[in-house]
Amino acid sequence: MSYSEKFLSINPSATLAIDSKFKQMKADGLDVVGFGAGEPDFPTPKHIKDAAIKAINEDFTKYTPASGTLDLKKAVCKKFKDDNGLSYEPSQIVISNDAKHSLVNAFGAILNPGDEVIIPAPFWVSYPEMVKFCDGVPVVINTTEENNFKFTAADFENAITSKTKAIVLNSPSNPTGMLYTEEELRSIADVALKHNIYVISDEIYEKLLYDNHTHTSIASLGDDIKELTIIINGVSKTYAMTGWRIGYTASSEKIAKLMSNVQSHTTSNPNSIAQAAATAALLGPTEELEVMKKAFDERRKYMVERINSIPGVSCSMPMGAFYVMMNIKDVIGREIAGVKINSADDFANAFLEKSLVAVVPGTGFAAPEYVRWSYATSMENIKEGLNRLEKFLNM
Ligand SMILES: Cc1ncc(COP(=O)(O)O)c(C=O)c1O
Repeated sequence: MSYSEKFLSINPSATLAIDSKFKQMKADGLDVVGFGAGEPDFPTPKHIKDAAIKAINEDFTKYTPASGTLDLKKAVCKKFKDDNGLSYEPSQIVISNDAKHSLVNAFGAILNPGDEVIIPAPFWVSYPEMVKFCDGVPVVINTTEENNFKFTAADFENAITSKTKAIVLNSPSNPTGMLYTEEELRSIADVALKHNIYVISDEIYEKLLYDNHTHTSIASLGDDIKELTIIINGVSKTYAMTGWRIGYTASSEKIAKLMSNVQSHTTSNPNSIAQAAATAALLGPTEELEVMKKAFDERRKYMVERINSIPGVSCSMPMGAFYVMMNIKDVIGREIAGVKINSADDFANAFLEKSLVAVVPGTGFAAPEYVRWSYATSMENIKEGLNRLEKFLNM
């Protein structure tokens, strides 16, 4: 039997792998604490759940247009206008079965075999695999913690070849939590325009920002860069809706049409009930979002302070999202609890086995000297996890 070379080349998601290992250990009755999942620990707000219940009771349970309901597209357009100062028509919006699906649609719409996509590292694990899945070639540019994990316009320009088709921008970033300023985005946009390169701008964490940081969408910097940008967004993170699976894109009408055509053959349409819920999320009150954000902010500060007080590990203060990248450079090469730690994978495996704490090794993010903690979990868990870290490092 032979299998698809393409499918064989795709690695499983490192973050989902850790999370399922954690869930299995928990189901087995172990006292394990999990920091792997990138999902808010809060329930979906009530008014959103009510909208879904209403949709069911009103029999809004049939196929919808392939690229989403007009109601949800209008709500998305309103969001772009209100939050980002961007004017889009509903015909430029495609609703999909989550932002991962939106990203695959976007890469699929622009890539031909061999086209290169620049991905700044540390990156969210799925980008390179999605590019490969769409017959493209991921080209990684490295950044350093000293430079806040950000690439410059010069780094971008140096990575461009005759095959470069797109760059991935993820601000605020998973896994680093860093954010590009408007000025930095302008210089990135200038390079993209000069070389006619698409920008895949993943803005899914735009509302999870702390310390008065503000998000700018690169598409809002002018009509020419807007034309080259495909914005990716979704309701999972902001509205605690990870199980509902709704993501969306804003792009040129031509790209929206290409994505919608493919979607009409692959998934028909996003879930009708989840679309009704997402419409309520985008149009609804924001008080509960503020409560969640405040909790994330408190946990972020606590986690950063604690990590930086523990000898051998350190971290920078993230500006957004809900992750902390812990630097383990000084731990690599050491022996902990009888285990030689040669890599972030060794660290994460030993930490899980010896201390029952699940963190994600940076290997999958192209950050081999880091592990990622998610602070989208209770303060109690965070305190316990960090207590265990302190003990683990002294084992
Ligand atoms: C940067 C980034 N983009 C997109 C997604 C996808 O979100 P979803 O598929 O839940 O819409 C995630 C989820 O972890 C993410 O971290």
